[in-house]
Amino acid sequence: MEKSVKQTVLSADRMVPRYTSYPTAPHFREGFEPQAYKTWLGSIKAGSRLSLYIHVPFCASLCWFCGCHTKITQREAPVADYVALLQKEIELLAASMPSGLEVTHIHFGGGSPTIIPLPLFEDLMLTIQKNFKLAVSIETAIEIDPRHFSEAQAVTYARSGVTRVSFGVQDFDEKVMSAVNRLQLFNAVYKSIELARTYGMKAINIDLMYGLPYQTPQTMKRLAEQTVSLAPNRIALFGYAHVPWMKKHMRLIPEDALPDTSARYDLFEIAAAIFEKAGYVPVGIDHFAKPEDALVKAQKAGTLLRNFQGYTADTAEALIGIGASAVSRLPNGYVQNTVHVPQYRDRIEKGILPVEKSCLLTEADLLVADIIERLMCDSSVDLDAACRRHGKFLQDISTALHKLKDLEGTGLVHIRNGKRVEVDNRFMVRLACAAFDTYLAPPSENIQRHVTAI
Ligand SMILES: C[S@@+](CC[C@H](N)C(=O)[O-])C[C@H]1O[C@@H](n2cnc3c(N)ncnc32)[C@H](O)[C@@H]1O
Ligand code: SF4
Repeated sequence: MEKSVKQTVLSADRMVPRYTSYPTAPHFREGFEPQAYKTWLGSIKAGSRLSLYIHVPFCASLCWFCGCHTKITQREAPVADYVALLQKEIELLAASMPSGLEVTHIHFGGGSPTIIPLPLFEDLMLTIQKNFKLAVSIETAIEIDPRHFSEAQAVTYARSGVTRVSFGVQDFDEKVMSAVNRLQLFNAVYKSIELARTYGMKAINIDLMYGLPYQTPQTMKRLAEQTVSLAPNRIALFGYAHVPWMKKHMRLIPEDALPDTSARYDLFEIAAAIFEKAGYVPVGIDHFAKPEDALVKAQKAGTLLRNFQGYTADTAEALIGIGASAVSRLPNGYVQNTVHVPQYRDRIEKGILPVEKSCLLTEADLLVADIIERLMCDSSVDLDAACRRHGKFLQDISTALHKLKDLEGTGLVHIRNGKRVEVDNRFMVRLACAAFDTYLAPPSENIQRHVTAI
C-alpha cells in the first residue's frame, strides 16, 4: 500500500535548524573584536537602509516553554539600568556608522519589551530618533505579552510611533497554559487587541504554538477559531522546540503530556485548514496573513525574506541588533552581542561595542544563504539563477544536489531539469534546506542542537 503524505513526512523527519540565518547561530565564532565590528559598520554603503532590532532580556515570570534569552525580574531597577545601557550602545553604534543611513524598521523583542517603564520607553525612542534618521514610512513593531498590557501602554506606544504589535498568545486553553506556567484568558487578549486598535496600532500579529503539553485536535481547533475571531493581520504558528538540554526550565514541562511528532503534524494541519478557510494565506513554513498584507504581496513578488524574527518584507541592507544577545546582519556577515547582561554592562560602561561572536560570510556561504532563504520563503528555488547571482556554477553545489536526491525519493521534493528545486510540503522545506547546509553535522554525530522539522 502507498504511504500517505503524512507517513512519508514522518519517516523523512529529522533534527534540522530553523534557518533564521545561514550559517546558523551555533556556527558563529567567539572572539570578534569591537574594532573589527566598527570597520564593518563603517563600511555600510552611504544611502543604505537600516533595520534596528532591540532586545529586552527581562520578563515578569517564566513560561516553561520559553526558548528566548530572558531573565525574570519583578524589580524596575535592573530594567531601568539596562535601558540606559541600550541608549549608550545606540550612541556607540551611530558614531561608528556613516551618516545619512535611513532606518526603515524598528523591532522591540525579547523577553518582554513591555516591561520597560513607559517614561523610559519614550526616552529610548528619543535616543533612537536623535541618533538615526528615521524613514517617513518607518514600521515600528513591539512584542507584547497580553497579560501585561494597559491603556497607558497603548497610548505611549502609539505616541512613540509604534505601528505593529505582536501578541504572544501561544494557546488559550487553561490546561495547556497551566502546564507551561502561563495563564492568560481569551478575554484579556481580546481586550489588549482592542486597545491597540483603538489607539491606532492596526497591524496586529499573533504568535501561537503547536506541540505544547495537553494540546489535542479539539483544543487546537478552538484555538484556531478563537484566533480567527480576533482578526489579526498575521498569525505565526511556531512548533514548540523542546530543548531541555539547552533550557533547563523546560524540564518542568510534563514530557508525557507532549504531543508526539504525528500529533504535532495533525495539530498544525488542523489550525492551518481553519486559517486558510477564513481567508488567510500561508506564508513561508509557519506564517499566515491576510491577502492584502505586505508579507503576502512580498511572497507573490518573490521578495519575501527571512530574519531572526521570522518572515519579513523588510529589504533593508543591514539589520543592527542592539542589546544583550542581539544579532546583527551586515553585508560582511553576522555579529552577535554578548549574551549575559553583566558582561554586556561591563563592555558598554567601558565605551566598547559589546560584540562577542561573528560569522564572516564567504562567497560559498552567500550562495547557500540565498538558496536557503528562497526555499524557506517560496518552497522552491531556481538554482541556476541563484548561482548566476553569485558568480557560481551548478557544479559548485553538486554535493547538495546529490543529497537532495534522497529527498526526491519521497515524492515531495522535485529537482526539475537538475536546476530547480520545488518542495510540495511545508515540513519538508527545512529538510531540503539542510541538504545545502555545509556546516550541519551528519545525523550519525547525533549533536542535540536542533529539533525535528515537524
Ligand atoms: C519573545 S516571545 C514574545 C513576546 C512576549 N515575551 C510573550 O511571550 O508574549 C516570542 C515568541 O517566541 C515563541 N517561542 C518562545 N519559546 C519558544 C519555543 N521553545 N519554541 C517555539 N517557539 C517559542 C513564542 O510564540 C513567543 O510568542
Ligand atoms: S515566552 Fe515571552 S513572557 Fe514567556 S518567558 Fe519567554 S519571553 Fe518571557
